[in-house]
Amino acid sequence: MARHVCAMKSMIIKNPKFEISVMNKSQYPKNKLPQIVLAGKSNVGKSSFVNSLINRKGLARTSSEPGKTRQINFYNMDERFYFVDLPGYGYSKMSKAEQNKVGESIETFLRNSKNINLIVLLIDIRHKPGENDKMMIEYIKNTGHRFIVVTSKADKIAKTKVQSYVDSIRKELGISEDLIFAFSSETKLNRDVIWEVIEESLSIQ
Ligand code: GTP
Ligand code: MG
Repeated sequence: MARHVCAMKSMIIKNPKFEISVMNKSQYPKNKLPQIVLAGKSNVGKSSFVNSLINRKGLARTSSEPGKTRQINFYNMDERFYFVDLPGYGYSKMSKAEQNKVGESIETFLRNSKNINLIVLLIDIRHKPGENDKMMIEYIKNTGHRFIVVTSKADKIAKTKVQSYVDSIRKELGISEDLIFAFSSETKLNRDVIWEVIEESLSIQ
């Protein structure tokens, strides 16, 4: 509740930079910068989320063709923290072997990174969470890290329906109301509220 009544401002990032794209654990940055990690199905809008939060259209590579991001991309935000853009899971045109590789790379990262402050799981607001999404939320819950769910592409449904779609996704995932936010990278719905959650997570070490 407090979140909705106090004045909110987006964080100002002066110099957002793409830092590195990695495949293996040995390539993860060795510093201790906190990480805000983006997970979700292929094409759900993870890269667009990063761009929309920092108001830079082209920083994180987005694509209308799903399954393009196979690596883990680190975006350095003023040396304060990273947005870590994970590869999307569940791209049906990818071979099973490749899908397994993506799954392994996500798990390896979540298991081994010591600097995760918050995991943001994106789910398309229009779709019921799939088996992959359910596995992912269970995996995330088990890591013990702080997390939120962001239901993306809210501009694609009528405003009057947003809350009921969010509620049904929330129930499917078995999470509480304060952990789920509707979002649109087009209209920037809830951008400031989500920034506030990120700030809060960065202030906890
Ligand atoms: P992968 O890297 O393949 O896993 O995809 P991703 O999750 O990074 O998705 P990306 O940000 O590349 O977006 C995929 C497509 O959805 C692009 O065509 C985006 O323009 C579109 N998109 C992303 N977010 C939104 C949104 O909030 N609203 C609308 N209308 N389109 C969106
Ligand atoms: Mg992407």
